[in-house]
Amino acid sequence: VTIGSDRKPDAADKRKQEPTYASLQMPIQLARDSLCALHIQICEQIRSLIEGDRLRPGSRLPSSRQLAEHLAVSRNTVLVAYQSLAMEGYIEAREGSRTVVRDKEAGDRPLRPSLAATPPASTTAIRRQPVVFRGDPPRLVNFGRKPIFDFFVGRPCPRAFPLRAWRRLMLQRLASAGPALSEYQNPAGLAELRHTIADHLGPARGMNVRPAQIVIVNGIQEALNIVSRLFVEKGTQVAIENPCYQGALSTFESYGAEMLPVPVDQHGIRTSELPERPVSLIYVTPSHQFPTGETLPLDRRQQLLSWACRVGAYIVEDDYDSDVRFDGPPLTALAGLDSSRTVIYLGTFSKSIGASLRLGYLVVPLELAEAATAVKALLNAGQSWLEQAVMAEFIKSGGYARHLNQIRSTYRARRDCLLSSLREHFGDVNISGYDGGMHVMWHLSPDLPDAKSVESTALTHGVGIYSLRSAVAYDFGTTPYSERSLVLGYTALQEEQIREGIARVAAALK
Ligand SMILES: Cc1ncc(COP(=O)(O)O)c(C=O)c1O
Repeated sequence: VTIGSDRKPDAADKRKQEPTYASLQMPIQLARDSLCALHIQICEQIRSLIEGDRLRPGSRLPSSRQLAEHLAVSRNTVLVAYQSLAMEGYIEAREGSRTVVRDKEAGDRPLRPSLAATPPASTTAIRRQPVVFRGDPPRLVNFGRKPIFDFFVGRPCPRAFPLRAWRRLMLQRLASAGPALSEYQNPAGLAELRHTIADHLGPARGMNVRPAQIVIVNGIQEALNIVSRLFVEKGTQVAIENPCYQGALSTFESYGAEMLPVPVDQHGIRTSELPERPVSLIYVTPSHQFPTGETLPLDRRQQLLSWACRVGAYIVEDDYDSDVRFDGPPLTALAGLDSSRTVIYLGTFSKSIGASLRLGYLVVPLELAEAATAVKALLNAGQSWLEQAVMAEFIKSGGYARHLNQIRSTYRARRDCLLSSLREHFGDVNISGYDGGMHVMWHLSPDLPDAKSVESTALTHGVGIYSLRSAVAYDFGTTPYSERSLVLGYTALQEEQIREGIARVAAALK
């Protein structure tokens, strides 16, 4: 609590003041045959834990009774040790017979050099191995100051999270969890969820999938790592859209891939420019090209599939936001057109429900399922059981379908609001990617400054609208989208916020 402020302490302040418990597992070793008395040994070891910052100020020590029992010494021995530490200023008794480590600044603690501050001289001379990892993580989190009206890509509306259903299902599943919470599970994921996803992908994405082809993952980001681990080593040829999703590019590159950019136009990836030579993988976003938002038409999908068979490539289809579709029937995924087991499909609940769930799925041709599961097992031994069980129940009970209907209508209204606000202030705007997904691309007219300038002017007026690279996209060299296109996510903003945000940008640019 700020001194002098009359603000009442809130729950967070109280939590801050609450001491953390120092575990009974404090590494105290007693030499019972030593000439040094036991209370001195205890006192010295606790003191050195405090000096070395292993026991931090505010940490609560075990009660003298508990520690005595744990160390198999008399309670008096511990009491004497605690008294010495208190006299030296290391610990203090607080109300409710709690004993806690004192603040270093408390004043009356003897000055000793901190053990942590001075590394042993020899270690400074050791030459360590350089880090071999090379990669640029996608900047999906804004750690800096957030704009008031933030049109960042791919953020679901926080209010749309199906909180009540989720809480109910969580309690239900916890009540009947049995040993599921305490035992390791199949690293490929919960059978019930894999069945449910297979059933969902039929009508929703036109895919005929067996549960055995599905591995439940920690989002598409992990699926990209699994695919890379299966196929990419130094020099592996991986084709990718240009511009593309930076998270995918960086993942492949971090495994040593040599990237082959293929240009994108107003219909998605230009299949006529695919390289006619052996390629191991091609990464695409056919439902809603990232970042342009274009949908790949059927003829290009078929060309892509036959090209992949010709050069021996697997197609990695990232279907990140296709559950959000506004107009017309759901699109058949590329994987739904694939009769030659060429497509590896990546799906996620990050966009339709919430990114912090970290729940997605990888659908592989059957012959890859065992290897993909082995990689998942090596990475983290499988997803959390509870989230998987709740998600399975949510889909089976019809909750997911209802949730999708709800967000589709909310997001459609927000998209319409964004388009009409842009038209109101900027006239006949050129926008792509508005049939579905959660962002659009605005191609700036010649009378407006370039994308970077618009981005920074908007930001000084509290609005986040993003040029390509700021929107977790990447371009190899200059593309038609690099300098004069902005990416606007709109699903996390309410209509008034969208109107106000765009009005501010217009006023700032005038
Ligand atoms: C194109 C694309 N793919 C994948 C992801 C990440 O998805 P996940 O949260 O499932 O890892 C994102 C996140 O914004 C994305 O834009």
